[in-house]
Amino acid sequence: MRRLAMHPLARVWTCVTVLLATIGGASALWSRSDGPGAVQPAKPSPTAAAGVGGGLQQLAKPWHLDIGTAVQPAPFERDERYRTTLTQEFGSITAESQLKWDVLQPAEGQFDWSGADALVGFAEANGMAVRGHTLVWHMALPAWLEKGSFSPDQLRELLRSYIQATVGRYRGRIGVWDVVNEPLADASGQLRKSFWLNALGPGYIADALRWAHEADPQAKLYINDFGVENLNRKSDALYTMVAKLRADGVPVDGVGFQTHVTIDTPPKTLRDNLRRFADLGVEVAITELDVRSAGAATDTSRSGQAVVYAGVLRDCLAVPRCVSVTVWGFTDAYSWIPHAYPGWGNACLFDDAFRPKTAYGQIRQVLTEAPGR
Ligand code: G3I
Repeated sequence: MRRLAMHPLARVWTCVTVLLATIGGASALWSRSDGPGAVQPAKPSPTAAAGVGGGLQQLAKPWHLDIGTAVQPAPFERDERYRTTLTQEFGSITAESQLKWDVLQPAEGQFDWSGADALVGFAEANGMAVRGHTLVWHMALPAWLEKGSFSPDQLRELLRSYIQATVGRYRGRIGVWDVVNEPLADASGQLRKSFWLNALGPGYIADALRWAHEADPQAKLYINDFGVENLNRKSDALYTMVAKLRADGVPVDGVGFQTHVTIDTPPKTLRDNLRRFADLGVEVAITELDVRSAGAATDTSRSGQAVVYAGVLRDCLAVPRCVSVTVWGFTDAYSWIPHAYPGWGNACLFDDAFRPKTAYGQIRQVLTEAPGR
């Protein structure tokens, strides 16, 4: 495997980036954009984020790796800084909510494709891939469905028609779908007793994958879950599920490892875990990476975060079938973490003033230094 020597200029830039990221991260605390009278953050200069040789996706090209991010509707529609950094850094977009059932079909029989169409159109206009997220989940269900009084047969038909309408609309435009999201219970290794399991039984998983495949035979179809990054009871159950589906000829092409972690809980056995799934013949992907910490960010927490981000990237790069790393939002200004984990935050590569953090510089370093594949 040819080792890419690090170009001297790139080495200088990376040191500058890491230094800037550290200074930027520290100064961001003084220029928080949410305090009264706070100094509004300057727009990131193109070189500040993209750096020499372009952004993260540019650097990932020799690896044949997609570097992506989840995209929230509000900042995507309203914040120019958000769109600028998005196009400078990433080659893949995951709809953070625009392709979920509660958004696409708020009323029975009535689709609202506007948010999803805008996102897919933007991705196409900017040469970016789209990860469709997600078709079958126990959350983000519209009230008319979740609270309705449908028979199992009616629910099965509703699920089938929803999957085929959605995948069919973006046939040839969305290359990867998280068809089934979080099918496993949190730690037991059993199937999650979800709305869909309770209504349709365990067969809903294979049915959903088959229906998606019928709607777009070219799309890569994934099962996506959290808490499965390490070798553990939950990932064992996922491994057994995927092996059985493939043995039964069910079209499952990939497994997504969400990877929502803290600076103190890096996934220590991720590499071996990714490898065993890849050995089943499926792609593997890091699909929702964020690394949160408690309280105000410090130089120590930012350094710890950088170690975890870099470790996850290195684990993916070590497994040829690990095709993408997607962060679950790229700026602390719009992260889901503080809402879901009060007191926690600082989980993204860019701070809330859109300044690159130490972790961003470390990711660049890994992509620049390590050998291509
Ligand atoms: O867009 C509406 C807005 O018009 C409205 O004013 C506002 C207040 O009601 O809600 C906005 O919609 C919110 C949406 O995010 C867009 O920001 C929904 O209420 C909110 O429930 C939704 O939360 C998302 C959640 O999934 C549920 O869909 C989070 O942003 C998103 O980060 C989270 O992502 C999940 C993955 O899909 C699966 N893995 C776990 C991950 C975190 O929970």
